[in-house]
Amino acid sequence: MDELKKYLEDFTKEISQAKSLDELNRVKGKYVGRKGLLNRLFQQLAQLSPEERKNTGRKLNQLKQTMESMVKERMQQMQSSRTKIENAVDITLPGKKQWLGSYHPLLIMLDQIIAIFKSLGFRVETGPEIETEHYNFEALNMPEDHPARDEQDSFYLDSGYLLRTHTSPGQIRALQRLTPPFKVIIPGKCYRRDAFDASHSPVFHQVEGLVVADSISMGDLKGTIEVFVRRLFGPERKVRFRPSYFPFTEPSAEVDISCGICGGKGCQSCGYSGWLEIMGSGLVHPNVFRNAGCDPDKLRGFAFGMGVERIALLVFGIPDIRWFFENDIQFLDQFRIFR
Ligand code: PHE
Repeated sequence: MDELKKYLEDFTKEISQAKSLDELNRVKGKYVGRKGLLNRLFQQLAQLSPEERKNTGRKLNQLKQTMESMVKERMQQMQSSRTKIENAVDITLPGKKQWLGSYHPLLIMLDQIIAIFKSLGFRVETGPEIETEHYNFEALNMPEDHPARDEQDSFYLDSGYLLRTHTSPGQIRALQRLTPPFKVIIPGKCYRRDAFDASHSPVFHQVEGLVVADSISMGDLKGTIEVFVRRLFGPERKVRFRPSYFPFTEPSAEVDISCGICGGKGCQSCGYSGWLEIMGSGLVHPNVFRNAGCDPDKLRGFAFGMGVERIALLVFGIPDIRWFFENDIQFLDQFRIFR
């Protein structure tokens, strides 16, 4: 009888501790299941005298009934609390996402451009936004009377200083600072006195590239740019090198990519030409090497410069450059990062 009492105590404790229907069923099986503790006791009844058997048998039956009704009660209790929770909260709804803030689309674009060139072995250099006329123009083969210098309407500061109009002065600084062979990109802000319209902003970003070694050809330039374009815009893009002029490269070429909207057939976006211009490029002019204190007979190089806004407009499908600078939350929100 003591043993039975102990069983009931243990049983009571175990079912009250059971936290799920599974656990409850396990406790039930342990005591009143087919191979449970009570059944084992029932089997031992045969060893008792007829008198004891009757008595103990009755006690065992009572205990079994008690346990079964306790299980039932506990089960109902569990089910009703579960229904209560399920009615209070729709557990199938997705959770609230945490907003971690957002990167500016131009920064996203810059990061992607930089990552591609890094994977090709380029390292990142920087130069000052306040430049001297020497680095911004003269050293780049644009003397005072050079017509190209008039085209660049600049923000001049005091005596010989200005806000750089392109990242190309970084070429001179890299040549002075590094020992060839090297591959660098120079990302940064540039400034020009342009009207603020759908395709111009007085402040914009460029990524300059410069590769210098003892032998470099237009083929190296074309290969590098083609890899870059396919990585950024996808494998279907065609790249075209169109002869052009820059004072600091010779020969010079402008790089066009096939229009992603019409696939090259011609549409409003590409001015019905099928092509979009994305950067200027060329082989480093001997005077640039000379102006940076390098020997143009011993070195060759290629350089390129791309407008980050222009590329971001194409990649993100944004129609107006001003959207990048207006800090409109509804625009920026579209680049949110969630966790
Ligand atoms: N600096 C030129 C521009 O701003 C681009 C360029 C860079 C062209 C390097 C050739 C080589 O338009």
